Amino acid sequence: MIKVKDLTKRYARTIAVDQISFEVEKGQIVGFLGPNGAGKTTTMRMLTCFLPPTSGSATVAGFDVLEQPLEVKKRIGYLPETPPLYPEMETADYLTFVGRIKGLSGSELNKRVDFVCERCAVADVKKRILGKLSKGYRQRVGLAQAIIHNPDVLILDEPTAGLDPKQINETRDLIKSLAGDHTIVLSTHILPEVEQTCQQVIIINRGKLVATDSVQNLQSRAGGAESVLVEVAGRNGNLDWSVVQKRLEQLRGVSRVHYKTSHANRNIFEVESQKGFVRGDLARAVVEAGWDLNELRPAAMSLEEIFLQLTGSEASVGPREVVAKGAD
Ligand SMILES: Nc1ncnc2c1ncn2[C@@H]1O[C@H](COP(=O)(O)OP(=O)(O)OP(=O)(O)O)[C@@H](O)[C@H]1O
Ligand SMILES: [Mg+2]
Repeated sequence: MIKVKDLTKRYARTIAVDQISFEVEKGQIVGFLGPNGAGKTTTMRMLTCFLPPTSGSATVAGFDVLEQPLEVKKRIGYLPETPPLYPEMETADYLTFVGRIKGLSGSELNKRVDFVCERCAVADVKKRILGKLSKGYRQRVGLAQAIIHNPDVLILDEPTAGLDPKQINETRDLIKSLAGDHTIVLSTHILPEVEQTCQQVIIINRGKLVATDSVQNLQSRAGGAESVLVEVAGRNGNLDWSVVQKRLEQLRGVSRVHYKTSHANRNIFEVESQKGFVRGDLARAVVEAGWDLNELRPAAMSLEEIFLQLTGSEASVGPREVVAKGAD
């Protein structure tokens, strides 16, 4: 649905986007990640024909962004970083206005306005002035204007930025429900959101592509698969975790056992292994020692750890993460 080849945007002094290439299949939700200034917004503006590339190409549904911008715009809905709302207009009037610009008219236009108001949960503020809406509602009206012409592709630039945790959940559910009908590219700083919402991830850093893969592949590629998490419990309620740790360390192929946490008699260990390690041996050892094996699973790296590893940036992720979790 989207094909990007060597896409580059150069400003006077900076190369904001540097020869990035990726493809997005129809019906997918793709997370577009990168630290501040990585080039996410610039890429999205090129895909939506708001900014001409310096070199390289991008096509949406087979149409070139430089040569056939009208065809591209028909098929694309865009929610910019700041929703393009006119503060003095009422919600329904504004959506009607946008719909008309996108080529809708008559009863079809009215139907679409009603539909997107329902879909984006803004029907109760149809007659309210946009400037007086809360941030969450404004963001939802922004989504409504992006889908008014039922585009094949949705480009959403940080759709949940600045929302409270409840609104983040609602917006995330809304975006998920839009997938299938639409191919979606969304940029965000909230990494758990990507893990929950997206199948595919594109990570850029300083204008360059550093990874494009499924969330699952990224995690196993990052080396997480070599460790397993084991949860062990004592049968009669008490368990000396150091005894368990020693027993696990003796197993063939185990290089290190790290005691992670304990709560309510549930002890979790991370077992790092080398070649020759057999998970069945581990399970047997636990059970034969008279303990319960509650869980045994690969210790996948979180997307956040992978992101930091690939971009080497901590500062730009931290603060927004905190806001996203509602700890602010
Ligand atoms: N109009 C412009 N003129 C000059 N440089 C620009 C312009 N717009 C963006 N840049 C530069 O291009 C780079 C990429 O910016 P961009 O806004 O695409 O990043 P981003 O990944 O969206 O960041 P953020 O997470 O902060 O939104 C930055 O170094 C930025 O300063
Ligand atoms: Mg941006």
